[in-house]
Amino acid sequence: MARADIEWTDDFLIGIAELDHEHRSLVADINRLHGALRAHDERERIQETLGEILARLQAHFALEETVMKENGYAHYGAHKAEHEALLDTFTGFMVRFEQEPGTGAGAAIEEVVDEWIVEHILTSDKKMSLMVKG
Ligand SMILES: [Fe+2]
Repeated sequence: MARADIEWTDDFLIGIAELDHEHRSLVADINRLHGALRAHDERERIQETLGEILARLQAHFALEETVMKENGYAHYGAHKAEHEALLDTFTGFMVRFEQEPGTGAGAAIEEVVDEWIVEHILTSDKKMSLMVKG
């Protein structure tokens, strides 16, 4: 059962404009993935969307890490480790989807992007922005 779209609300805003802008694009990409899975789009198209999300995540995490470093953020290491774990999980599921697309790998990816990425924005990124902005 594919998931419903994530509704963007101001709750997602962390108060750093460039990161908020990227988070919004990321949520839009995630919703595109949900739509593609709901519509049972061709496997190649879903894989393409997954590749786009991965590229966006990598670029976005790199920017966030730069912001943290520039501001001497105290929890840089732990936050970066969360990014790395998230990327590892995401790419693991991408490989699984490529190898066994019909076995629930799509649903597993949706769970990661919905629960993990959203949770990360709402907790770790918010905590970071509060300290960075002082
Ligand atoms: Fe982050």
